[in-house]
Amino acid sequence: MQMSERLRRAPVSGIRKMFDLAASDSINLSLGEPDVLPPDEALKGMNDAAVKGMNRYGPTAGVPQLREAVASRYSSYGVNAANIMITPSGTTALMTIAQSILDPGDETLVPGPGFVVYGPHTMISGGKFTEYRLTEDDFQPDIDDIQKKITKRTKAIFLNYPSNPTGGTLSGTSFGAIRDIASDNGIVVVSDEVYEPFVYEGKHRSFITELDNSIVVNGFSKMMAVPGWRMGFVIAKGDVIGDLTKMAYHMYACPNMPAQYGIMNALPSVDGYLKGVREIYRKRRDLITSRINNIDGMKMSAPKGAFYAFPKFSFDMTSDEFAMRLVKEKLICVPGSAFGEYGEGHLRFSYAADEEKIIKGMDILEKVANNIGR
Ligand SMILES: Cc1ncc(COP(=O)(O)O)c(C=O)c1O
Repeated sequence: MQMSERLRRAPVSGIRKMFDLAASDSINLSLGEPDVLPPDEALKGMNDAAVKGMNRYGPTAGVPQLREAVASRYSSYGVNAANIMITPSGTTALMTIAQSILDPGDETLVPGPGFVVYGPHTMISGGKFTEYRLTEDDFQPDIDDIQKKITKRTKAIFLNYPSNPTGGTLSGTSFGAIRDIASDNGIVVVSDEVYEPFVYEGKHRSFITELDNSIVVNGFSKMMAVPGWRMGFVIAKGDVIGDLTKMAYHMYACPNMPAQYGIMNALPSVDGYLKGVREIYRKRRDLITSRINNIDGMKMSAPKGAFYAFPKFSFDMTSDEFAMRLVKEKLICVPGSAFGEYGEGHLRFSYAADEEKIIKGMDILEKVANNIGR
């Protein structure tokens, strides 16, 4: 069967490709999937809801009590339940937004290196995307590059901080510059903040303060270690939530009902849970950073957020070739090129894996890098 031109042209995710190559006894540092347990309250809340019969369709924008619970988590920004839409995952939220805001021929700017869905979502929605460069080392949006790439058709800038794959967080200067570019040019900022709970230094700067021309995406996959539940949310102005809800109805009718009750049950106490999880990730971050910086030909700054290391390497090979050498030695990571043209020269390792796995993985990396370097 012939699929649409726009679907055929959209690339498959390079992250999944590496995952599919993994031998069963490999050390897999390729996936951005928390290995910690979800909060007990979430499991209990979801289970109870299913047993009690909350298995029917629900409101498209989510169960009102959960919308309220999410709004109260962000109440310092002045949002209320009307600003919240619960979605079946951050990915679905992003696609719902792309489908809602883009007309054929509209353009988006997406971060490079950046998470793998923004470009394909643009294409599938009939638009055209261009990558803007992130600066080396601290991975801030390169404002000159963005200015150069804005056209009359630029509808949206995708932003992702804390960042996958780089682990960078957004500086105050970058925040201000993006805010000004967006308002000066009538561009929507789609700010993907799913790693917001995982900041190890400094603070998270959220575009919830800029809802006049921003839509914020967040989710529970990382926050509560439940990626298989497919639970996310959008924060936007009330009228935008209304429009997105119209699109959501046609895409998926409503989010998973029992899972919403699970999230609702865990949300009031999630800060205590996250404090513990952050400490676990912080230790692993320090471990992986020091191991990588001890390898000749590789270097990185300690990531300030998320749970990824994105070192640069100086060997005369592509990131794909380097990653394949590692696969042969049973270490799975993701080549930087999977995150766009500006990701070349890097590898991405997820440290959402226990210390033993990180140590074994780094032993393999060191051995392979030393062999290449010789
Ligand atoms: C930056 C970023 N945004 C969004 C997502 C999507 O998360 P989910 O669809 O599980 O909510 C991911 C998942 O890896 C991510 O890394």
